[in-house]
Amino acid sequence: MGHSYGARTVLADLTVRLTERRVGVVGANGSGKSTFARLLNGLVVPTEGTVTVDSLDTRTATRAVRRRVGFVFQDPDAQIVHPTVAEDVAFGLENMGVAPAERAERVAEVLTRYGLAGHADHPAHLLSGGQKQLLALAGVLVMRPARIVLDEPTTLLDLLNARRVALLVAELEQSVVVVTHDLPLLEGFDRVLVFDTGRLVADDSPAAAIAAYRSLMAGRP
Ligand SMILES: Nc1ncnc2c1ncn2[C@@H]1O[C@H](COP(=O)(O)OP(=O)(O)OP(=O)(O)O)[C@@H](O)[C@H]1O
Ligand SMILES: [Mg+2]
Repeated sequence: MGHSYGARTVLADLTVRLTERRVGVVGANGSGKSTFARLLNGLVVPTEGTVTVDSLDTRTATRAVRRRVGFVFQDPDAQIVHPTVAEDVAFGLENMGVAPAERAERVAEVLTRYGLAGHADHPAHLLSGGQKQLLALAGVLVMRPARIVLDEPTTLLDLLNARRVALLVAELEQSVVVVTHDLPLLEGFDRVLVFDTGRLVADDSPAAAIAAYRSLMAGRP
């Protein structure tokens, strides 16, 4: 599989089968991690080869794939579309046709879990960066997707919230792919992929993959 944006190839010669519950993705800025993450839920379709999720081809079964794979964006502003925090979280459930009473219950539960209960009626765009990141996570998890892709879920978070997210990822029943520069987040993961200039250069246990990533970066001027 490969992907090019116009004439620019950003992922090449990639063959990978993800079966583990917790998969981490690391690598330099611009190495293709977010592109890889987006390929997993059909936000981006490969320009070469195919991507399948539970036997669904992301090119032909895009809607079904998007329902199966929840995606949390690197930039929470890309995901927050409704005026208030509660409305934003309720939006996905509304789309899924969940009845109002159950919707309210699920929204309240998820906001409490993310420490946002006191902000339910606040304008979403006035939250702090970290709170927005938590809101974006809440908005996806409330839909209980079968699989989840998180693109840098802790970048904007303080130590406490980063730990909360790490615990949450550890407790999720669903299989998760996490793109991150926050290497401690990958402790306990089953597998870590290292990307470099659009290629998969290591695919190993967290300790071995992170060591490979560190030595790759240490060799750079
Ligand atoms: N929509 C797009 N159109 C054109 N080029 C893009 C697009 N998205 C990403 N790119 C390019 O593809 C390359 C890989 O980008 P990508 O966002 O996948 O990197 P990344 O590994 O996630 O980086 P970071 O760690 O900075 O988030 C970059 O060179 C980027 O400029
Ligand atoms: Mg990225």
